[in-house]
Amino acid sequence: MPSKVTARAHSNIALCKYWGKLELPRLNGEAWLDWRLRKINCPATSSISLCLAALSSETTVTLLPDSAQQDTAMLDGREADGRSQSLLSGYLSLWRAAGLLKGYVHVDSHNNFPTAAGLASSASGYAALAAALSGLAAEPMSSQELSRWARRGSGSAARSIPGGLSALPVGSDAAAQLAAPAEGLPLAMSVCIVDAPPKDVSSRDGMSRSAATSPYYQAWLAQALADYDSMVETLWRSTHEESGDADKLLWELGTVTERNCLAMHAVMQTTVPSLLYWAPGTLAVMHAVRHWRDDGGPPAYFTIDAGPHVELLCLQNDLAEVARLAGELPGVQRVITSLPGGPAQILSSE
Ligand code: PMV
Repeated sequence: MPSKVTARAHSNIALCKYWGKLELPRLNGEAWLDWRLRKINCPATSSISLCLAALSSETTVTLLPDSAQQDTAMLDGREADGRSQSLLSGYLSLWRAAGLLKGYVHVDSHNNFPTAAGLASSASGYAALAAALSGLAAEPMSSQELSRWARRGSGSAARSIPGGLSALPVGSDAAAQLAAPAEGLPLAMSVCIVDAPPKDVSSRDGMSRSAATSPYYQAWLAQALADYDSMVETLWRSTHEESGDADKLLWELGTVTERNCLAMHAVMQTTVPSLLYWAPGTLAVMHAVRHWRDDGGPPAYFTIDAGPHVELLCLQNDLAEVARLAGELPGVQRVITSLPGGPAQILSSE
């Protein structure tokens, strides 16, 4: 059995977002542990995302000697801080409780993009970690099972396992499924990094605060479901009936992407205290994109996660022009362009 495994996963950006968790009933003792293992961290809304080839995490997991008393972790070349370390140890304990990991491990993870800046670093990070841990386990794991394990670390990580356009439906013990593979997709993204201080409220804390305090939370759950159904129908039609009509695919997905993003941010902004993730540069990009569409510029559609940066969905043919125009906007520091990324992969095992 291997004692050191390295895996890579790409980050993903949701076109149809998840914000909120399924409620867990209160149980005790063994029943609680079992319930936690099966159902922990289940999103309250179904989501669809695009995996990004240009943003990835590479994670190496090494089994520590029997004498080790705890897990250790390095993130981007630095010892993990107390909060990350305790989240990670809690996650690794789930693998131990399920009998899939024996003993303690050292985790060494690197992102090729800014961490904790609203660029879904927890998605690629937990997906790469789950893939590496699966390489240490005795039995190989299916993509569905691996996606469930990634989800237990971070909801959006479930979608980085299949890659491409992937769908994570609501459900107890949900797993993401491939909706369309990366190869052959005409879509691309420009990630606009805007000037802003580091975010101060994590997605995990933010969404539980929204569920408890936003007057629009229930309306959001209904809207997210309608958006998901609409995107699933679009993807089904584009693969079964209209293959090749890239402009229509972008228009249909893009329109719902913006509507869904604005609905999620309405919930965030009406949370108490308010979660106002946007910075001036965020608004500059949102306005510019609408202007390009109205005035014959390249068609692009915005989406924004729990942070200030803006991701622009466009056709691959327009990617360079969209990135150039976005890079000239006030408050935009730099633009990362990406084609669709593939599934999480084990890179080496020894
Ligand atoms: O995966 P988490 O728990 O960090 O939450 C992700 C939440 C959003 O990025 C805002 C939306 C999404 O679906 O990715």
